[in-house]
Amino acid sequence: MRDESLRLAHFDDANLKVIDVGSGTGFTTQGIVRHIKSEHVTCLDQSPHQMKKAKQKQDLQGCQFILGDAENIPFSQNTFDRYVSAGSIEYWPDPQQGINEAYRVIKPGGIALMIGPLEPGNKLGRMIANSWMLFPTMEQYQQWFQQAGFTDIEIKYIRPQWFHGKHEYGVAIAGKKSPDAIVHENIVRPQPEKLTVGQRLKTFFRVVIGSLAGFIFIPVALFGYFLNLFRKKEKLPGKYSERLNGYQVMALIFIFLVIGVIIYFLAR
Ligand SMILES: C[S@@+](CC[C@H](N)C(=O)[O-])C[C@H]1O[C@@H](n2cnc3c(N)ncnc32)[C@H](O)[C@@H]1O
Repeated sequence: MRDESLRLAHFDDANLKVIDVGSGTGFTTQGIVRHIKSEHVTCLDQSPHQMKKAKQKQDLQGCQFILGDAENIPFSQNTFDRYVSAGSIEYWPDPQQGINEAYRVIKPGGIALMIGPLEPGNKLGRMIANSWMLFPTMEQYQQWFQQAGFTDIEIKYIRPQWFHGKHEYGVAIAGKKSPDAIVHENIVRPQPEKLTVGQRLKTFFRVVIGSLAGFIFIPVALFGYFLNLFRKKEKLPGKYSERLNGYQVMALIFIFLVIGVIIYFLAR
């Protein structure tokens, strides 16, 4: 999914200057440094804990690591040749602002690539997903890109190997900043209004309930991988075949044990 999506960034020169926004533990950055010299790659994330893990990765040693907000990128306009953000937009309070920032920090002629989930097709999935995070529709992604000023928009639907649903799972969308684009710095942004006590409480419960809902995605994906073992597989080269890591296998065994214990007590 990652390597397929990164093709839309057109990494045609190892010396391109790239920013990876919401770089987290560096999984997507590891795909970027296969094409771009690590010294030319900047990782931006708001979480020091995630960034600490990325910093430990051998292949990311040359990268620059910056703590910062996707919606207020601490670089001036026209700094990067490429902007990449994978699996982060669904956490941003104002995605349009984040995409405007992508447009601002890339140079005229540069490309921004956003990889993100799509709203689940079925009602229950949509309810769980939307209580947890923002799952945009394809139309929203396109609208945000066009509104930010991007042209030559390219779209690729993506899905992990465990997902066999009828609807699309996620999208990689890339746009170009016109070679003669003009961006004005120091745009004054409206200050967010102060939240009332009621709104704060609503946010608090939304985070708690949403986080619990988020956990449902872990067993769902793990079951998907498990069922995949019994499905007829397309012939994929080994390096593209997604495998569970040790923690995920342990989580799967744990889930089966819990189910086993529940069945045992119900059957007694
Ligand atoms: C699911 S991780 C994806 C990490 C990475 N891109 C990858 O492909 O593995 C999402 C990351 O987005 C970061 N993030 C969320 N909102 C952000 C924001 N407003 N500014 C910067 N980073 C943000 C989180 O801290 C987290 O590390």
